[in-house]
Amino acid sequence: MTALTSMMALPALAQGVVQNTALKEGGATATSPDGKLRVTVTVDGDGRPHYAVARNGKPLIEPSRLGFLLTDAPKLERRFAIESQATSSADSTWEQPWGEWKTIRDRHTEFRVRLKESTALARVMDVVFRIFDEGVGFRYEFPDQPNLKHANIADELTEFGLAGNGTAWWIPAGEWNRYEYLYNRTPISEVGQAHTPITVKLEDGTHVAFHEAALVDYSGMWLRRVTGTRFKAQLSPGAGPAKVVKQGPFITPWRTMVIADDAAGLYTGSRMTLNLNEPNKLGDVSWVKPGKFVGVWWNMIKGKWSWARGPQHGATTANVKRYIDFAGANGIPGVLVEGWNVGWDGDWFGNGTEMNFSGPTEDFDAKALAAYARSKGTALVGHHETGGSASHYDKQLDTAFAWSAAHGQKVVKTGYVADAGQIGRVDPDGSEHREWHDGQWMSNHHLRVVLAAARHKISVDPHEPIKDTGLRRTYPNWLAREGARGQEYMAWQGKNPPEHEANLVFTRMLSGPMDFTPGILSLKGEKDSDIPSTIAKQLAQYVVIYSPVQMAADEPEVYAKLMDAFQFIKDVPVDWADTRILNGEVGDYVTIARKDRNSADWYLGSVGDEQARNLEVTLDFLDPGKTYTAQIYRDAPDTRFDSDTRHKYVIETRKVKRGDKLMLALAPGGGQAIRFAAK
Ligand code: NOJ
Ligand code: CA
Repeated sequence: MTALTSMMALPALAQGVVQNTALKEGGATATSPDGKLRVTVTVDGDGRPHYAVARNGKPLIEPSRLGFLLTDAPKLERRFAIESQATSSADSTWEQPWGEWKTIRDRHTEFRVRLKESTALARVMDVVFRIFDEGVGFRYEFPDQPNLKHANIADELTEFGLAGNGTAWWIPAGEWNRYEYLYNRTPISEVGQAHTPITVKLEDGTHVAFHEAALVDYSGMWLRRVTGTRFKAQLSPGAGPAKVVKQGPFITPWRTMVIADDAAGLYTGSRMTLNLNEPNKLGDVSWVKPGKFVGVWWNMIKGKWSWARGPQHGATTANVKRYIDFAGANGIPGVLVEGWNVGWDGDWFGNGTEMNFSGPTEDFDAKALAAYARSKGTALVGHHETGGSASHYDKQLDTAFAWSAAHGQKVVKTGYVADAGQIGRVDPDGSEHREWHDGQWMSNHHLRVVLAAARHKISVDPHEPIKDTGLRRTYPNWLAREGARGQEYMAWQGKNPPEHEANLVFTRMLSGPMDFTPGILSLKGEKDSDIPSTIAKQLAQYVVIYSPVQMAADEPEVYAKLMDAFQFIKDVPVDWADTRILNGEVGDYVTIARKDRNSADWYLGSVGDEQARNLEVTLDFLDPGKTYTAQIYRDAPDTRFDSDTRHKYVIETRKVKRGDKLMLALAPGGGQAIRFAAK
């Protein structure tokens, strides 16, 4: 029997020429299609398997351990031998129903190494690598076998031993505020326990972002620094008998490293995450509609209105009508309403057991508002805040989404406001458990929600979510999520610093779309507090922070006073044919150009940190032979984020063509937004 026929069926994507190479002395090895990345798997004298990654012949990931700790069986880590290896190549192109790029190329070498224990248990573990020119993904695959009928995984032993020091941008993992932390910038050798994506820049300039793809029925992976610049996978906890419980043959999520010369390369290389996910499983998804929305929201975040019923209640029929009028007048397809349902009056934070997702409050005339929205060419965006009581939500999923669909909703924002480790799970036997937002149980809960929503042709946008690992490819109704410190923190004390967006683009945004809630043109938070940003930067956020559902988050009354700046928010699309990163340094600045999917227009967004910056960009992305009108929204010359000048901006137009150069002058804490309108 050849090694290949003894393996599980090869996944459909790996269809190239299959070579079944004999075991080579010193391990097994394969390279990326361009030959620049090399992965090597070796087994040491104790039979411990390791993998290593070299780039251009230079070590990048030093030999790093592979394996698992189990709660009820000996660990899977020693006394292994390489039984076989096989490589194959794949090169295909696929289309995103919506996204940053219309088409995505998936070109990689698949490298499959079978490891077998030399003990009486003789357990078999395949490590499967997909080696792209842009980085490496690998996962474990366990075929059906007598001595591994189930796996109770106590932890994963996978390591990532970086070959050198450098700078890391990261947020802590395993802490109460889930993913909502400001980014730390430290030497790699000073990272603690971090969420992924974690981004590092090595001393030679190489950028690496560690993350995972296709997190399904498994716990999220954190990275814990063990020694020096060596990290180890640390799985998010769970309330069950082990962090991960698996039956029969199983696969893990992909562990990924996007590897690039610069920060820009990380962003485009992060398409790897999508390539490592399975194709669309929902069939015709023409009902999935990207779009902008306004909402009864910022006034609650600012503390002016309440979610709960009472004199300050925001979700009243009269208030919602005003938002519908504004959306209708400005071609905005969605109107989010929070606090529309019964359940908010008590202590909902961390407890949503009173929430009724088909029970509107008496001052919210659901039927009339749905009809009114339709008459104005817009639709209500639903809201399901669970307060972390996920089982309580599970019980209502079908009725809740049926109610949404009956009221014309196409998108529902969900929420899991509860401290980490405080998700409420109630099993069918009535036993109560506390889960983590990113544990195995929640990874399954989120898929239950996405599938229930799909049955009613509804798309979802979870807040306090599990992190994004590219599942939007498989489930295109999973439009966006929060999963980082969004703009809401600008309302409160401890606001996001000016570098925040430039951090997000090269960390959190490598995982997928974020519902950041841009466009607070008032630059005012709670108690009339000033927001350390500029108007031009608020506009630039629409291009820089990608989401297929973008909120025009401020009050209609604010926009009504700033209609010239609001014009950009009106114009900017949320669905793109192409995306180019023109420049950027993690946490300092970034400029992104994107081409509208439904017209010949291009858009540009540039954001900086607290420093003033002049960035020269070449318009080499514009289509040849066309003249464009550049509608430029920029900071006024004396604008700063930390004084009243933050409200000053200049709008001007210029004729431009491909190859022209533009100087983007960013104020301290500022930005710039441009529409290139094609003739
Ligand atoms: C937190 C979300 O991020 C925010 O957008 C929402 O308004 C509140 N939870 C209430 O659901
Ligand atoms: Ca939040």
